[in-house]
Amino acid sequence: MHIAMIAGSNRQNATSTSVLRYIETILKARNIQVSFIDLAVVRLPLFSPDAEDVHPEADFMIRSVKQADGLILATPEYHGSISGSLKNALDYLDNSHVAGKPVLTVSSAGGRLGVSSLVHLQSIIRNLHGILSPEWISIGDGHPLFDRDGAPRDPEILQRIDQAVEQFIELVRKLGNDTQPRKVMMES
Ligand SMILES: Cc1cc2nc3c(=O)[nH]c(=O)nc-3n(C[C@H](O)[C@H](O)[C@H](O)COP(=O)(O)O)c2cc1C
Repeated sequence: MHIAMIAGSNRQNATSTSVLRYIETILKARNIQVSFIDLAVVRLPLFSPDAEDVHPEADFMIRSVKQADGLILATPEYHGSISGSLKNALDYLDNSHVAGKPVLTVSSAGGRLGVSSLVHLQSIIRNLHGILSPEWISIGDGHPLFDRDGAPRDPEILQRIDQAVEQFIELVRKLGNDTQPRKVMMES
């Protein structure tokens, strides 16, 4: 199994990115291959349909998404929506990269919940013909997941993340099985 993860915050020590890093440890512990694209590190040029060449960093992202069995996307909540960085990255993609793939969405908001950004993100995924994972992850109050010494601030939140990731992996597995050639039962 191969999962592509895109961290949509253009901020050092972003909460949404730290959630993805935590999820990455869960996936790697299960020997799941991960491509991690951190948009605070990978500076994608502003997407233009007129561009003749694909920027190498954008090309890496597109290939990672295309090869992946599922995607995990994270965004900070900005003005009730997703970050400009993530929207710009998603504009590089089309249905041929995303269609039929499970997508887990994650947001971090300054308020109690980042539902608005998640709804917008899920609408984009629908337009790319991706399949939404049953649960989403919203981290409120902008708190980092862990203290400086690495201790979880709120074990309940980690538990909820674990559960959402579990359902996502299960969905990727189920859909992966569906793409296997079906055995034809021959009548004797
Ligand atoms: C430009 C901007 C707009 C924001 N808009 C919202 C908002 O609409 N709702 C909200 O709850 N928090 C808002 N915030 C706060 C961020 O969502 C919050 O700091 C979040 O934790 C940032 O996520 P990150 O640490 O992953 O970058 C905004 C912050 C910025 C910089």
